[in-house]
Order: sequence, then C-alpha cells, then structure tokens
Amino acid sequence: MFDQVSTNYDRTNSLLSAGNDAFWRRATVRAVSPRTGDHILDLAAGTGTSSAALAKTGAHVVAADFSPGMIEVGRRQQAGNANVEFMVADGMALPFSDSEFDAVTISFGLRNIVDPHVALAELYRVTKPGGRIVICEFSTPPFSLVRAAYFFYLNRFMPFMVRFASSNAEAYDYLGDSIKAWPNQQILATWMREAGFTQVAHRNLTLGIVALHRGVKPLHGGSITIDGAPNAVEAPAAPAAPAAPAPLDSPVDTVEEPVGK
Ligand SMILES: C[S@@+](CC[C@H](N)C(=O)[O-])C[C@H]1O[C@@H](n2cnc3c(N)ncnc32)[C@H](O)[C@@H]1O
Repeated sequence: MFDQVSTNYDRTNSLLSAGNDAFWRRATVRAVSPRTGDHILDLAAGTGTSSAALAKTGAHVVAADFSPGMIEVGRRQQAGNANVEFMVADGMALPFSDSEFDAVTISFGLRNIVDPHVALAELYRVTKPGGRIVICEFSTPPFSLVRAAYFFYLNRFMPFMVRFASSNAEAYDYLGDSIKAWPNQQILATWMREAGFTQVAHRNLTLGIVALHRGVKPLHGGSITIDGAPNAVEAPAAPAAPAAPAPLDSPVDTVEEPVGK
C-alpha cells in the first residue's frame, strides 16, 4: 500500500494536515535534539523527510522503512546527503545490533506496524543504555468538542479530499480507520514503559490531534520480552552519559515518571 502512495506522499500529507505536518516534524526534531556525531534511527521513515531534518545538525541518520517504494523516493530526494542512509528494514525484526543508536524515533509509523509492541521491543533493543526514544503519532484530542470536530473531519471531509489529492484514495481510507483505532496518549505511554523505557512523557500538538511521546532506555535496564516480563539483565555496552530527557517544550501536557522506575 505504501509503495502505491510513495510518489505524492509528502504533498498529500501537507494537504491533509493543512500544513501542520511541518510543525509536527520540527517539534519531533527538537524533542530528539540530535547532536553532531549522534547515530540515530528513524524507523518507518517513509521518504526520509524527518530523517533529513534530524541530520541537519550533523547526526548520522539511518532512515529505515519496509516499503521499497518509499525508500526509492527518499534516496532520490536526499541524493548527495551523506548524513542520511536509507535502508529497507522491517521494524519488527530490525537488522541492527543491540544498543547501536544514541536515539531512535518514529513518526506516524508505529500505528502502521502490524504489532507495535514488537516494534517497541525492537526499538528498545537497538537503543544504547541512556539513549532516547521519540514517537510522533496521531492521537486522541482530550477535549470532547475538538474530538468531535476532528472525527467529523476524518469521517466526512478527509475521504472527500483524498479523492482529489491522491491516486489511491483507498489507502487514505485506511489512514482514517487506523487513526480511530489507535490508543490514546496514556495507553501508548504504558506500552512504552512495558517495553522498558523510563522517564516517559508526552506533549500534545495541535490540541492532541498528534502527540509526541519520549522516553529513555535506563542505564542498567533489563531486556524485556514482548509480554512485558523482564528477561535477562543487560550490561551497558559502554559507559554512557546520563541521558537528559528530551525537551518537549511544554510542561502542561506531560506525564512524568520518576527516573529508574
Ligand atoms: C504514514 S508513513 C510515515 C512516514 C514518515 N515517517 C513520515 O513521517 O512521513 C508510515 C510508514 O510506515 C512504514 N511501515 C509500515 N510497517 C512497517 C514495518 N513493519 N517496518 C518498517 N516500516 C513500516 C510504511 O512503509 C510507511 O512508509
């Protein structure tokens, strides 16, 4: 399905989000706070628009996606950008070693992965102890009026618009359905904790239509099985500096958890 929409994917996104996608991506980059020399995984990277923004600070970004069509468009768009490396990869079986990345991030992708719990466990595995995760995903507006207006948009207006904007309207029908079926901010935060991440917090963007979640892999974490039961204790690969929680910029919507829980 993603192969079929890859050509006009970025343009359709901007149209359907009324330009808000650029703001969501900037907020994601700020939350990841990439540093020169960081090794970052952008999973379900699509055409690599977020990956390129992350790489601007001099970080090396692996843009991984299981759609060859998306990766091909990304490679063309980012030709000559040595800081972005495109790779076809499945988020449920990542082809990376344990503790390889300083930060991992996924934008509008976790919802599309068949088993998001498996993907979270994989993201945890490949993150260095002390490393950070940032998830940008559609979510549930907490205010009922906003929620009603948004669901009206998803049910009535968006299907109408995509028939003009995209050659594959069915793919975008799936988008609305998957957003409505996706868990709210608190449930996603719980899933992240179950995968092993600590200091989990979220910030709502655009009245909660999108939420930015972040967390940290603890310095002395255990590796976690999919059902959340601790598996074996993993020694840190190398001494890592204590992670500063990624900035979310707004204290209002965040839900903090004590470090080390
Ligand atoms: C809505 S797009 C998001 C793309 C990009 N992150 C963005 O922000 O524009 C969702 C992406 O998830 C990818 N995807 C779905 N399941 C995947 C999986 N198991 N492993 C890797 N990528 C996956 C799709 O190929 C698609 O490119």
